[in-house]
Amino acid sequence: MRAASAFLACLVAICSASRDYSGYKVCRFHTNNVTEVKTKIGQYHAGSIDIWTRSSQFVDVQLPGDVADHLKECEVIIDDLNKTVKETYPVDQLEGAEKLQIFQQSPQLNEPAPVTMKRQDIFFDQFRDLDTIYAWLDLMQLTFPELVKIELVGQTFEGREMKALHISAGNHNLNPDKKTIIITGGIHAREWVGVSTACYFIYQLLTGYGTNKKETKYLNHLDFLIVPVFNPDGYVYTWSHDRLWRKNRQQTYFPRCFGIDIDHSFDFHWTGTQDFPCSEDYSGESPFEALESESWNNYINESKSEYTIHGYLDLHSYSQEVLYPYAYSCDALPRDFENLLELSWGLAKAIRRKSGKKYNVLSSCEDRGSDLKPGLGSGSALDYMYHHRAHWGIQLKLRDTGNHGFLLPPKYIVPVGKESYAALKYFCDFILNPEL
Ligand SMILES: *[C@@H]1O[C@H](CO)[C@@H](O)[C@H](O)[C@H]1NC(C)=O
Ligand SMILES: *[C@@H]1O[C@H](CO)[C@@H](O)[C@H](O)[C@H]1NC(C)=O
Ligand SMILES: *[C@@H]1O[C@H](CO)[C@@H](O)[C@H](O)[C@H]1NC(C)=O
Ligand SMILES: [Zn+2]
Repeated sequence: MRAASAFLACLVAICSASRDYSGYKVCRFHTNNVTEVKTKIGQYHAGSIDIWTRSSQFVDVQLPGDVADHLKECEVIIDDLNKTVKETYPVDQLEGAEKLQIFQQSPQLNEPAPVTMKRQDIFFDQFRDLDTIYAWLDLMQLTFPELVKIELVGQTFEGREMKALHISAGNHNLNPDKKTIIITGGIHAREWVGVSTACYFIYQLLTGYGTNKKETKYLNHLDFLIVPVFNPDGYVYTWSHDRLWRKNRQQTYFPRCFGIDIDHSFDFHWTGTQDFPCSEDYSGESPFEALESESWNNYINESKSEYTIHGYLDLHSYSQEVLYPYAYSCDALPRDFENLLELSWGLAKAIRRKSGKKYNVLSSCEDRGSDLKPGLGSGSALDYMYHHRAHWGIQLKLRDTGNHGFLLPPKYIVPVGKESYAALKYFCDFILNPEL
């Protein structure tokens, strides 16, 4: 009996060599001085530390439990990290796998298996691994062939495909300039709710077209390019090895260190972080060293050169924040600042009206800490897209505010999807406003 259940458990990837977080906690320090926090921790802990997030009021840090216990300033926000990690994977793996047969294509015929599911949105009951998400994208293309085209952005270090879903109603009369909105999720591997939210957007836009006034209007007048998993290697790694992995999985110059922080790799005001390649936000040695950012640059510049990109929305977690450019410096004033602020507050308000959740609005540079130490915010996707191509650019940091952090349980997938979708609708209305 024991052996049988162990065997069954090992059918799913997470049993392989998943990193054990038992004994770890996450502490909140009520200060904005990261140096001070590091100094305090350094008295009891020699190794590197993983800073989860920082804001103007606090810094969240993941620490071994005994270190946390020594620090009187530590407010424990996650007491049993291993348990909280576990709760983000699908509860019943086998049932999940069974259910997902419906998303898989039969390999020989290259035809979809009959779609027998009663509730289409069963997909959003759990977080989904990369294979399931890619099978689901195929299903979207098969179900909405007149609206959807899957495009290849490039290949990752481990040889996986980066896929973009191009949604277009092909209305050249209504959208002659190919006004486009770009949405990316999962640049940071562990931020699963960004990935599920990007998929939720896809689903709402496609199922609403021709049925709901709003979606019909959006798709008639706008193209959407949505990349739900911008960092496929990292995402797969969070399912197989380490739920809290953040970077991609590229080999660095240092043999034992893998991964470049894609969001520090874009070539706009890029400055090397001078961090050790093992660190969480290692920028690489040169801009676009991360293959994902380089592929994206080529894709956006070459394949999409005739598109006018009106909006860029980059989905991250956690903190509940609407961040506007720039990330690299607080001294750089973004263009059309009044309207950009109006957009940012409008997004926050749309969310509050939908779910009551409060999202703060601030400049990305403050969130990154580039106001305190220049360079911390360099090379972001937001700055790059805002500067080169997108007239309006926003990064959304989704739920929550720290109770689960990156480890938001699956029951929040739909609520976060809904409130974020309210924001996306505001974004579309804002862009389609003729007075702007
Ligand atoms: C942050 O803390 C460090 C070390 O405690 C201190 O030297 C530094 O002045 C502090 N910075 C600010 C901006 O308060
Ligand atoms: C930590 O979690 C992993 C997987 O979720 C599990 O296999 C392991 O037994 C847990 N460790 C402890 C000490 O509970
Ligand atoms: C991409 O576009 C930007 C802005 O037009 C330009 O500076 C850059 O050189 C282009 N890169 C490539 C590879 O074409
Ligand atoms: Zn992120």
